[in-house]
Amino acid sequence: MATHIELNRTGDKMPIVGFGCWKVEKDCADTIYNAIKAGYRLIDGAAAYENEVEVGQGIARAIQEGIVKREDLFVVSKLWNTDHHKDHVRPAFDRTLKDMGLDYIDLYLVHFPIPVKHVDPKVQYPGGWENPETKKMEYQRSPLHLCWAEMEKLVDAGLVRNIGISNTNVMMLLDMFSYCRYKPATLQVELHPYLQQNNLVRWVQSQDVAITAYSSFGPASYVQLNEAGKTAKPLLTHETIEQVAKKYSKSPAQVLLRWSVQRNVAVIPKSMNVDRMKANLDLFDWTLEDEDIKTINSLEMGARFNDTLEYGIDLPLFD
Ligand SMILES: NC(=O)c1ccc[n+]([C@@H]2O[C@H](COP(=O)([O-])OP(=O)(O)OC[C@H]3O[C@@H](n4cnc5c(N)ncnc54)[C@H](OP(=O)(O)O)[C@@H]3O)[C@@H](O)[C@H]2O)c1
Repeated sequence: MATHIELNRTGDKMPIVGFGCWKVEKDCADTIYNAIKAGYRLIDGAAAYENEVEVGQGIARAIQEGIVKREDLFVVSKLWNTDHHKDHVRPAFDRTLKDMGLDYIDLYLVHFPIPVKHVDPKVQYPGGWENPETKKMEYQRSPLHLCWAEMEKLVDAGLVRNIGISNTNVMMLLDMFSYCRYKPATLQVELHPYLQQNNLVRWVQSQDVAITAYSSFGPASYVQLNEAGKTAKPLLTHETIEQVAKKYSKSPAQVLLRWSVQRNVAVIPKSMNVDRMKANLDLFDWTLEDEDIKTINSLEMGARFNDTLEYGIDLPLFD
């Protein structure tokens, strides 16, 4: 079982298990440092997670202590919706780089294919979904092809090694393929047994675009955020997952992560707890048998938790 996915164009080896930085709030620098110490080499951040300064501090400490060199790490960040305009991509990226104290990023993603009216970082940083003045989500005429051209310029400038996109579908990728100079290296989407997106995964992988799954534990990180997260049966204590876990003497979390990596889909679990961090990395010396994969696959129900509609935003993005 490969521990990396080789990315198109650069051939860079993206670790198939990384550490997710969303909602790493308290003791963030220590958490990132601990994650690197525990063995994580991919750090999945974003301007929108409001912790890039602390993430950078955690990385700096791990480098200072000689645990890793910068080139051993694969650092990911994401461009927020309010910075899609061609005049705002570079300044937004520069802020991320400065906040993290780095001089390049391994992978920069367009966080959502939603161009939202720009917000001056002096007024609000990072921007949100709603405009701070009107308290409404306002769109902006900044087409993705112009935004993508700016992302490509970051590659040309040697500031970003790979570029990709998140929260989108086949239709948009097909359109991107028709104008891009640099094909997206990765697509990051919500994926777990309740939302398997088999056609998307199969087709995107066949186009040599790597897939990263976020929220591998399904509703776990949405319990406090929305109704779907609150009401769905947790996957981490689901009897089907527990039964499979028992068979392999693994935890339900490990089964959910292994289920992804076994289809060559990268995972980026987030945990504040060092033992769980370590366990989430321990996915490589065992294999789920086909019958257990089938059992897990039977949990499909098309349930999406990170859905704009679930946050009360009237945008059926995934329809
Ligand atoms: N592109 C996007 O739009 C997008 C959207 C969402 C997420 N993401 C990325 O994906 C990452 C992961 O997704 P996520 O943050 O939604 O959550 P997740 O990794 O699916 O789940 C995190 C939750 O699971 C718990 N957990 C972690 N390991 C566990 C284990 N071994 N046993 C039991 N519970 C465990 C964590 O609690 P503890 O911390 O207490 O362990 C936390 O409550 C994010 O951090 C972010 O980097 C990207």
